[in-house]
Amino acid sequence: MSFSVRTVDTSPFDGQKPGTSGLRKRVKVFQQPKYTENFIQAIFTAMPAPGPQNATLVVGGDGRYFMKDAVQKIVRIGAANGIKKFIIGQDGILSTPAASALIRKRDADGGIILTASHNPGGPENDFGIKYNTRNGGPAPESVTDAIYQATCTISEYKEADFDAHVDLSTVGIQTFGPVSVEIVDSVADYVELIKEIFDFELIRKFRQQTPDFTLLFDALNGVTGPYGRRIFVDELGFPETSLANCTPLEDFGGSHPDPNLTYARSLVDSVEKHKISLGAASDGDGDRNMVLSHDWFVTPSDSVAVIAHYADCIPYFKRTGIRGLARSMPTSCAIDRVAAAKGVEAFEVPTGWKFFGNLMDAGRLSICGEESFGTGSDHIREKDGIWAIVAWLNIIAHVNLTAPGAGVRSIMSEFYKVYGRNYFTRYDYEEVDSEGATQMMNRLRTLEPGMAFGSYKVVKLDDFHYTDPVDQSISQKQGVRIIFQDTSRIIFRLSGTGSQGATVRVYIERYDEKEFALDAQTALKPLVDIALDISQLEKYTGRKEPTVIT
Ligand code: G6P
Ligand code: ZN
Repeated sequence: MSFSVRTVDTSPFDGQKPGTSGLRKRVKVFQQPKYTENFIQAIFTAMPAPGPQNATLVVGGDGRYFMKDAVQKIVRIGAANGIKKFIIGQDGILSTPAASALIRKRDADGGIILTASHNPGGPENDFGIKYNTRNGGPAPESVTDAIYQATCTISEYKEADFDAHVDLSTVGIQTFGPVSVEIVDSVADYVELIKEIFDFELIRKFRQQTPDFTLLFDALNGVTGPYGRRIFVDELGFPETSLANCTPLEDFGGSHPDPNLTYARSLVDSVEKHKISLGAASDGDGDRNMVLSHDWFVTPSDSVAVIAHYADCIPYFKRTGIRGLARSMPTSCAIDRVAAAKGVEAFEVPTGWKFFGNLMDAGRLSICGEESFGTGSDHIREKDGIWAIVAWLNIIAHVNLTAPGAGVRSIMSEFYKVYGRNYFTRYDYEEVDSEGATQMMNRLRTLEPGMAFGSYKVVKLDDFHYTDPVDQSISQKQGVRIIFQDTSRIIFRLSGTGSQGATVRVYIERYDEKEFALDAQTALKPLVDIALDISQLEKYTGRKEPTVIT
């Protein structure tokens, strides 16, 4: 096989600044000549010491349009920059959690994940490129900044000339001169990991003994279809009818692959209609999840708290113990109560999964979650949708050992009896005018505690900042917290992931020790009114109603 390296002249493109979720743009932007090449070269230029020379790199993505083209470019540019070995999912497919797991298992120096997460895909929609470091987690800001710097000064990129394309469809090793490319089964290693974590035997037995327990898993045409099939059908023995939209499509079937009550509506409807015991979905790249039943919707804040509460029935945590629990700041405080009961550390970090990684690497964190449908543990360094769903199956099977017939709803009500209930809702105002949103936030920052609204008295008001307990790095201005005397909270944040204008998120939480059965919107209505009043949201944004309520 001939192998030579050539240098191609180029010049910088504006706006190649990756967030922690990588560079996300329209496919058309990535398709501009040299645009994708520039960004890939910048990753190799900025790759943390010792750099790409002789390195091993994991590559894969969520199957969206343009992914396979990007994989070929990564191999050519990576090979020219000294990468010695590529480990690539078959057909380029790797869910984000599976990629994180593979980086760790194979001791790779890093990975490139091709995804725009839950954003729609296809030629008219989004694509993304994200770099993960050797711990399997998203690159820290120091690295993404270095990548951005490299995109601003780039004048050439290197590319290897092979006389063939990498054959992504065949599992096995291909060599191109000094470079080896290993195509791996996209699912096998991940399934093995999940089997080591959970009690598959217990879940299988429960399924056999409880034929009226039904599961419906909706992959929303995203990457987790094959993972779901292998785990739920092949391993656990659920019928094929337990799977919906489990063939990954380049455009996700034209839908928005985001598991929430708005975008996973067809799942919610089927779960209600067919009286499904456990309904679940994950997003385009497989790191988010949603869990519900025909008679209950589990908020992500409750979900992680329940998983933490029952951690002892999960073999992985039996082995490791619970080192600590954590949530992002706007996530409800339910998990804090579990941490207190278990006598372990509880961390409150800014929004963004990367903040959990440091705590995990330091051995201080086992289970964590975010209100934005992210749940996970220190088995990898990304959130993990399938993990959360299997955790629920494990818990349901365990609870049924002593309480036959228990389901999602009864597990939640037992949980509330122990800890009380943290009612939670989030209002999103999408694509509002950035200036108005910024002014609203600035004004909120100037308010002082002491204000009273009926029986609600503000006892604390601050702009959340975080000092990482491991590396002491400081993150400022992470959201305005308004905390009341009864521990109720109203939080205002501007989204860090929106692409048009600004998105205002308002998070509302109220703790109730006795009354668990209220509808969340009813329970939180007085606080919603206070939030709108305090912030003068309508005046600043011109919006009367939120665009999405979760
Ligand atoms: C991404 C990150 C999550 C984070 C979310 C916040 O999905 O992976 O860890 O919670 O963004 O999004 P927001 O739009 O609220 O900034
Ligand atoms: Zn995602």
